[in-house]
Amino acid sequence: MKASLFVGSLIASSAAAYKATTTRYYDGQEGACGCGGANGGAAFSWQLGISSGVYTAAGSQALYDTAGASWCGAGCGKCYNLTSTGEPPCTSCGTGGVAGQSIIVMVTNLCPNNGNAQWCPTVGGTNQYGYSYHFDIMAQNEIFGDNVVVDFEPVACPGQATSDWQQCLCVGMQETDTTPVLGGGSSPPPGSSSSRPPASATSSAPTGSGTQSLYGQCGGTGWAGPTACAPPATCKVLNQYYSQCLD
Ligand SMILES: *[C@@H]1O[C@H](CO)[C@@H](O)[C@H](O)[C@H]1NC(C)=O
Repeated sequence: MKASLFVGSLIASSAAAYKATTTRYYDGQEGACGCGGANGGAAFSWQLGISSGVYTAAGSQALYDTAGASWCGAGCGKCYNLTSTGEPPCTSCGTGGVAGQSIIVMVTNLCPNNGNAQWCPTVGGTNQYGYSYHFDIMAQNEIFGDNVVVDFEPVACPGQATSDWQQCLCVGMQETDTTPVLGGGSSPPPGSSSSRPPASATSSAPTGSGTQSLYGQCGGTGWAGPTACAPPATCKVLNQYYSQCLD
């Protein structure tokens, strides 16, 4: 008989579990998951937008590798469904945008806390706005707004993202920690901060040849690309394989 179904147990799972801040960057560089060609570490073109509604992003450390790796982190190639709240994390740190739009991002880079503490928290820590997670989305134009806070959850990568990921250097050589660690109360009430002065919000513009831009690689074993960083970023050694322009 067609009676009423017991759907109660299904309801709770639909709420997105986590909140994160977002910014946008574009540097045209391969990033810390090794997604780029041999020509000086230029990003694969798909990193600018894998397919409709699917992008790549630099994740904060807990999304990238909870053990602190800065190259081929365990979070490389993992995907998340981001749904815009429409709100910036504080009134002076972004204009926000449309609420309720969703995109999927695949993590192909690290947004390290060192030099980026305003947005990108440490594992277990929070950023200046009180959030535990951050996605710096690779895009040349705004997607669903300026520095919006998102609800997010891990999802299976769409097929195109999965096959694109197979081109990255870090495939099969990732760290093996338990990334991503998503847990604990990661979401403060929005707007609960912050009288801090806004620093440069949406991030770097592409730079010319010879200097590397924010988050780009600037050194490491085998690196043949630029070793100077566009000001105010400076080149910081993260490990023997990877130095990165940080501000
Ligand atoms: C992403 O989240 C939105 C809002 O919860 C949902 O409508 C959409 O189906 C989700 N997409 C995927 C691929 O999970």
